[in-house]
Parts: sequence; structure tokens; C-alpha cells
Amino acid sequence: MSDKNVEKGAMLYEGKAKQVYETSGRDLVIIHFKDDATAFNGKKKGRIEDKGIINNKLSASFFRLLESAGVATHFVTRINDRDMLCRNVKIIPLEVIVRNVAAGSLAKRTGQAEGTALDEPLVELTYKDDARGDPLVTKEEAVSMGAAAPEEIDAIRGLALQVNDILYPYLLEKKLKLIDFKLEFGRSEEQIVVADEISPDTCRFWDSETGEKLDKDRFRRDLGGAKEAYMEVWNRVGDFRLSGV
Ligand code: TMP
Ligand code: ASP
Repeated sequence: MSDKNVEKGAMLYEGKAKQVYETSGRDLVIIHFKDDATAFNGKKKGRIEDKGIINNKLSASFFRLLESAGVATHFVTRINDRDMLCRNVKIIPLEVIVRNVAAGSLAKRTGQAEGTALDEPLVELTYKDDARGDPLVTKEEAVSMGAAAPEEIDAIRGLALQVNDILYPYLLEKKLKLIDFKLEFGRSEEQIVVADEISPDTCRFWDSETGEKLDKDRFRRDLGGAKEAYMEVWNRVGDFRLSGV
């Protein structure tokens, strides 16, 4: 049976933008990408038409790029418009944010103007806990909460910076500046792999010439044109397999 014919079983989990289904293959899950969009910890709700289709395609393309550069991910294959086959990993309950330019909550917290370039990429950890609004945590706090072992956190930070080193120049060539992004990691057997998604929901992309925002900030900040922005990112990034790299 080819991966594309794996059968969708019961829904295991429903998140704000995705659903996770079990499959006949015990070590595999199907991730279904929805058009639902939320912000401010679910307080703002809406839809971005076709977002699920674009995020599925874009995530697949980014995961293929990372795999080709030697970074392990949970990605197996894209099954159809909205479904992705992935390894069934145990998600580490941390959101790992990498920043190249001050924006969003960093700009708000530190008073740095949005758009201020950072001398070095900055890595932040937040603990995945909706009830507490995913608070920032130190490595020591993450360890003491049992989220991960100290060596795992060191590995995760290294991987997050490696992902930045791969994505940043790749996107800049497509005239997209990678301002910041959020990654999640999972444990698969003994390995830590990049999981979840990589998309305009989880990254800030600014046009490298005009500074136009081409990501979920268009929805968060009511700027309009969210669907068009997601389409624009897809049109520029496209399918990594067809890039001839
Ligand atoms: P922030 O500036 O709001 O902390 O966001 C940093 C990056 O993380 C940005 O690219 C958007 C992404 N992000 C998520 O993927 N999920 C979230 O829940 C939040 C708050 C941010
Ligand atoms: N995904 C998050 C939420 O709704 C927030 C965000 O992406 O800004 O809660």
C-alpha cells in the first residue's frame, strides 16, 4: 500500500488550525489543515479561505527543504490538498521562537521598534499552555516543569538555529525576509524531529523590498488581504521538489 492510500482513522486531537487523525499504520498520523484562524490565544476567531490548502503545501515544501539539508522532521508525504501524512511523534510541550528582527511580542516587551534588526538570532521558549497564554520560560523552568531534559533543550535550540540558517537565505532569494518563526518539536523513538507546521501562520514573512507583511499578522491586525498574502508566499516559495536545487 502506498503512503498516499493510508486510511484516515479516528480523530485523535483537534487544535485551532489542524486536526490529527490516527491511521492504519500505527506509527503514522494524518494532519488535516483547516481554514480556521485564531489569534490572541483563541480570543479572536475567523477564517482565511484556502489557508489550510496553502499551509499544507507550504509546510510540505519547507519540510522537504529541511530534510534535504539533514534536519529530521515528522513529515512523510502530502496526501491531498488538506492532509499530510506524518510520523506519530510525542510533541514536546514547548514553542520555540527564533527571531531575526524585532517584531510582535518581542517589540512590545522590550520597546524595540518593529523592524529593528537583531545582532544575533534570538531563541525564546514558551510553555504550551493555553490557559496561561503560552508563557515565556527559561531553560531551567522548562526542565523543572518536566517539559524536556537539559540536553534536549540544548539540542532543540541548536536545531531551531539550524532551521533558521536554512530558511533565511532560501526565503531571501524569493524576496521574503524571515522576521521570526515558531517551531514545535517531537520525540520519535530516540530522535528529536521538527513537527507541527511551518507556514504564514507560524512565521513572519515581510517582502524584502517593500516590507509588506505577508503572514498571519494581516489577520491578527485586521490589515486585510490575508488570503492574498498566503497565496503570494506560496507563489514565491512553491514546491521545493520542483526548484531544481
Ligand atoms: P510573537 O511575536 O507574537 O511572540 O510571535 C513570534 C512568532 O511566533 C511569529 O512568527 C508568530 C509565531 N506564533 C505562533 O506560531 N503561534 C503563536 O501562538 C504565537 C503567539 C506566535
Ligand atoms: N495561534 C495562536 C492563537 O490563537 C496565536 C497566534 O498565532 O497569534 O491562539
